[in-house]
Order: sequence, then structure tokens, then C-alpha cells
Amino acid sequence: MKNYAVIYWSGTGNTEIMAKSVFKGIKELNSEVEIYNVSEITVEDAKKFSHIAFGCPSMGAEVLEETEFDPFFTKLESNLSGIKVALFGSYGWGDGEWMRDWETRTENAGAQLFEEGLILGDKPTSEGEDECYQFGKKFAAF
Ligand SMILES: Cc1cc2nc3c(=O)[nH]c(=O)nc-3n(C[C@H](O)[C@H](O)[C@H](O)COP(=O)(O)O)c2cc1C
Repeated sequence: MKNYAVIYWSGTGNTEIMAKSVFKGIKELNSEVEIYNVSEITVEDAKKFSHIAFGCPSMGAEVLEETEFDPFFTKLESNLSGIKVALFGSYGWGDGEWMRDWETRTENAGAQLFEEGLILGDKPTSEGEDECYQFGKKFAAF
């Protein structure tokens, strides 16, 4: 059975806006979807999903957020084999390097990566929110 989770970290709310739109897009096609801030879900519970859309902005110097999100992802990483995974996040002044590294890491973990990670600069515009919605909708059919 397909079941979906959106799991995100967001410091100033930009990736959270993306997460809510991705969630809405998935929900349009599949009602079996839940959304969690990364602090609200355990690694054990996350393993139960067939599809996970992860959201995290570029932090530090082109890395995932290091206090909560990266430790969570690192623990889950060895269990991602066969899971369908979508990645998204907001960034500021960089060129998306954190997302390229994250895609490589996800593929190396054996996950089935959906498209390229969706990246948006700073706070999503209404067009950006729609991109996230469409991304979620397509992921629901993946
Ligand atoms: C401590 C810190 C480090 C950051 N490092 C990067 C970076 O390396 N590259 C980049 O493109 N943006 C960087 N940013 C900008 C954030 O990715 C950007 O503000 C993003 O919209 C934050 O998303 P959020 O609102 O979901 O937390 C950094 C922001 C902060 C606060």
C-alpha cells in the first residue's frame, strides 16, 4: 500500500511553506498522507512510509541543518532502500550545492529518487507554491 509522509525542518518558515504545498499536492491524489516537522516524528515511525518527501533548507555552508534534520536523516538513511523519496528546500545565496549533495546521498542509500530536488530561493512566491503543489501531485503518482 502506498502511504506518504512529508517530513521537514524550517528555521524561518520558507521550507515550511513549501512543505505545506507539497502536502496539498500529494493529498489531491492520495489521502494517505501526513505532514510532520522533523521534531514530531521518530525514525521508527518514518520507516513505515512507502513514499517520503523530505524538506530542508541549505544551512551551514551548503549542508543540511545539522542539529535536528541531518541527525534524523542520517539515522533513517540505512533504511531508505526501496523507499520512494522526493527532496525539496529553500536556499539563499548559494547555487543549490546542498541539494546536489543530498540527491547523491539519497541515491547512494538505495532510495528511488523522484525527479531532481525542488529548490526555491528564499520565501516562495505564489508561483513557487504552485510549483511545490505540482511537484507533490506528480510525486503522488510516482
Ligand atoms: C545559519 C544559516 C546558514 C545558511 N547557509 C546557506 C548556504 O550555505 N547556502 C544558501 O544558499 N543559503 C544558506 N542560508 C539561507 C537559507 O537557506 C534561506 O534563508 C532559506 O530560505 C531558509 O529556509 P527556512 O525558512 O525554511 O529556514 C543559510 C541561512 C542560515 C540562517
